[in-house]
Amino acid sequence: MRVLGIESSCDETAAAVVTSDGVVLSDVVASQIQIHQPYGGVVPELASRAHLSNIAPVIQQALAVLPGGLADVDAVAVTAGPGLVGALLVGVQAAKAIAWSRKLPIVGVDHLVGHLLAVYLRRAEEPALPLKMPYIALIASGGHTALYRVESAIDISLLGETRDDAAGEAFDKVAKLLGLGYPGGPAIDKLASLGDPNAIDLPLPLRNKRSLEFSFSGLKTRVAQHVAKHGLPKDERELANLCASFQRVVVTSLVGKALEACRQQKIARLVLGGGVAANRGLRAYATEQAKRVGVHLFIPHPTSCTDNGAMIAYAGAQLLAHGRRDGLGLSVFSTSPLLAVAPAIADG
Ligand code: KG4
Ligand code: ZN
Repeated sequence: MRVLGIESSCDETAAAVVTSDGVVLSDVVASQIQIHQPYGGVVPELASRAHLSNIAPVIQQALAVLPGGLADVDAVAVTAGPGLVGALLVGVQAAKAIAWSRKLPIVGVDHLVGHLLAVYLRRAEEPALPLKMPYIALIASGGHTALYRVESAIDISLLGETRDDAAGEAFDKVAKLLGLGYPGGPAIDKLASLGDPNAIDLPLPLRNKRSLEFSFSGLKTRVAQHVAKHGLPKDERELANLCASFQRVVVTSLVGKALEACRQQKIARLVLGGGVAANRGLRAYATEQAKRVGVHLFIPHPTSCTDNGAMIAYAGAQLLAHGRRDGLGLSVFSTSPLLAVAPAIADG
């Protein structure tokens, strides 16, 4: 089965065609970075407008790999939430129009489920991933930071989430403070690789080892206080040191809690996902620590970590396989049922 996936929840207009076993046939992403950059963050109304002008060409480009175009597509999957409602509506309306005109099944996908399953995406030449469910997954993106136990595409439980800012949001806010532009993650990632991660002493948030909650807003404040006291970094080296020190704390917190979740749930399989999982420091430290404690770690290709249509197509294929299907009445949602308040964590 070939599924067309459409994603427009935030600042990326994306479409892709993916087979039900995860082979990515096309993966097109139109980024809106330049539109939002002057504002240092996503402006919802501008995002909706940009999606409107990008959606048709992006879908057309994604379909261009298929000899028969839309005639070779078996189903349409679209992000129905969480995200910016105006932005989501653009993708959902496009998906409905296609499904209606071609009499194709349509399925709405929770963006977080897309990130949680993105690890299975592969290019044709790559073998299928030897990853069995259940697994523990850490999603760290611009909007969300949470830990999950994934039993199947339709059986996912939240283990813990951030009390305040998402990890990506912390990267973006610190980058803005340091004048590094939007989005901040990739800029800090690059600078951090040149700096000393122990140069500046920043506290690790929520040190209680058993807690699977995260908190990043205090850390961002500590960086702001450091800048208020010492001024903005005076040269590249100081800037790199500050970025490396900040990144070290975020990465230590994310990896520590993710491995604690594996321990508590007695599952030795860990998956990372979301934009922050593209971070080189996180990938390296997670690899090192998982190996140390005997956990098998699986991380998607960096392009499958940040928002894309392929993860939505693949998640949609899995939902369809589980009998899920929506009609043309499909509506959007701004918050996810996967983000409800975390249940009490059993003591491991
Ligand atoms: O998953 P994503 O593309 O969109 C959301 O669903 O939010 O994540 C975007 C976030 C942004 O905050 C961006 O700064 C962060 O992921 N990000 C990174 C890196 N690449 C993207 N953070 C740290 N290091 C990176 N290399
Ligand atoms: Zn995302």
